Amino acid sequence: MTKRTLIVGNWKMHLNTSQASLLLHRLQERIRISRDIEVVLAPSMLVLQPLSLQIDRRKFRLASQNAFHKDDGAYTGEVSFTMLRDLVHYAIIGHSERRIYFGEDHSMIRDKVAACVRNEITPILCVGETQTERRQGETRQVLHDQIATALHNLTAKEVENICIAYEPVWAISTFGGILAKPDEAEKEMKFIRDQVRRLFGEKAAKRVRVLYGGSVDDQIVRGYLEIEDCDGVLVGGASINYHKFSGIVDAAYSLQREKEA
Ligand code: 13P
Repeated sequence: MTKRTLIVGNWKMHLNTSQASLLLHRLQERIRISRDIEVVLAPSMLVLQPLSLQIDRRKFRLASQNAFHKDDGAYTGEVSFTMLRDLVHYAIIGHSERRIYFGEDHSMIRDKVAACVRNEITPILCVGETQTERRQGETRQVLHDQIATALHNLTAKEVENICIAYEPVWAISTFGGILAKPDEAEKEMKFIRDQVRRLFGEKAAKRVRVLYGGSVDDQIVRGYLEIEDCDGVLVGGASINYHKFSGIVDAAYSLQREKEA
């Protein structure tokens, strides 16, 4: 089974409803339907509903950037995965901005991953070490702990369908944006897949999609997509730029065409 290349745009807390609608409109005109490439947009929670009415579902899927792990109840200000299940295919879980700014810990992230799966939403679990952890040689331990705890409640079959994005915190544009070279990223992405193999077996390791994220733009995306263990990219800053994001999708097309030739 060949996996579709996944290009995910994390719009973070950018673009109001009309700006988001305009960007989608332009991307929709430019991006073609492809059976090999899946383009996913993660706008703010506010914008998910209007975009879901506008979106060409043959070209794009939607993701939420977060939600609360309980299905419903007295949780003022929260939105549940149950409420999102008809709107989104994916949800970004455990992004470093949520871990750092909003204090999301291992158990909260584990509960969110479980809530996604329970609601038939595919989690895109973000993992990655900080610069300090990297300097102290703790990268592998951090990745192991993040993966093992987040996936703790899942079966091997469930893990087959999820995505794990390796996003070294130091490589994210707003946290420093030091480029993680593709050969550096490759080693950790292989380690991530090895962890899945160790915890859930060969089939889950083969099928789980491992993405890369951190300062990816149209100029450098190819280097990551060429990595054998890389099933796609999670893009922040460049995803709200029409030219850069469509350039990223174009790069994925050309690579796919070269592979087929
Ligand atoms: P940048 O692409 O802006 O570095 O952000 C990466 C990211 O956090 C995607 O989730």
